[in-house]
Amino acid sequence: MQTYTDISALRTQIKQYKREGRTIGFVPTMGNLHEGHLTLVRKAKELSDIVIVSIFVNPMQFEKADDLTNYPRTLDEDLAKLTQEGVELVFTPTPEMMYPEGLDKQTFVEVPGLSHMLEGSSRPGHFRGVATIVTKLFHIVQPDIACFGEKDYQQLALIRQMVIDLCFDIEIVGVPTIREVDGLAMSSRNNLLTLDERQRAPVLARTMRWISSAVRGGRTDYDSIIEDANDQLRAADLEPDEIFIRDARTLLPINDNSKQAVILMSAFMGKVRLIDNQVLDISREEKEHDNSENDA
Ligand code: PAF
Repeated sequence: MQTYTDISALRTQIKQYKREGRTIGFVPTMGNLHEGHLTLVRKAKELSDIVIVSIFVNPMQFEKADDLTNYPRTLDEDLAKLTQEGVELVFTPTPEMMYPEGLDKQTFVEVPGLSHMLEGSSRPGHFRGVATIVTKLFHIVQPDIACFGEKDYQQLALIRQMVIDLCFDIEIVGVPTIREVDGLAMSSRNNLLTLDERQRAPVLARTMRWISSAVRGGRTDYDSIIEDANDQLRAADLEPDEIFIRDARTLLPINDNSKQAVILMSAFMGKVRLIDNQVLDISREEKEHDNSENDA
């Protein structure tokens, strides 16, 4: 496995891959790799000849200096895991290389609507940071496909839209969330939980399953479902951040034409913000199909 920190050396190698006609699968990460990331890597491997992983803790997508400083950095362990997975190349640029003029002077990319709604409204600037760094990485790596976790649902929707809007010739592959045995979605942030917090954290996924069965059961009083769910989180000492039940495609409020809903949840366990999401079918045909099966 080769590791590059230098952009121009990486470009030379990528030109070589392209000359050889090899397809490139890309997995952008911020490091502290867990099984969820490795699933993305395996998917990229399945779909392309060469897998390139980037490890870069992107300062532009953090609002709080503390969050950026405290983000877990485990480069040696990450490189060992990627070697084991048979990754060909890892790109580990420095902030100075990615933002030579500093963040204030950086040209940015913003996806209207999707950048500011839901999680974007409570984290102004976050999705601008994500869209900008992913654009820069796409230009450097020039992949044929790029894999992203469905766990970051809004991020995935935003990147899909950005790729359409900016005519990137890259296939975006969404990969399902990997969970711990107790249901907690895998995340680098889980490493920041104390033992006690870690034991209580699966309540987020449990509450999400409760919302899901309420909606599947036909309830449409979304505000009161969300209120009950917030109470369930508080009872387990989680501080609810946001819960949305939205159209899975547009992320706008559900309407009569919505076929799938997505539950998007975030809550603080101590200082750590945990997120999770679940997509569920809500189309009338689906419900009629369910009912006729029950009748049979
Ligand atoms: O999902 C992440 O880890 C980051 O948001 C990404 C896509 C690597 C951009 O920094």
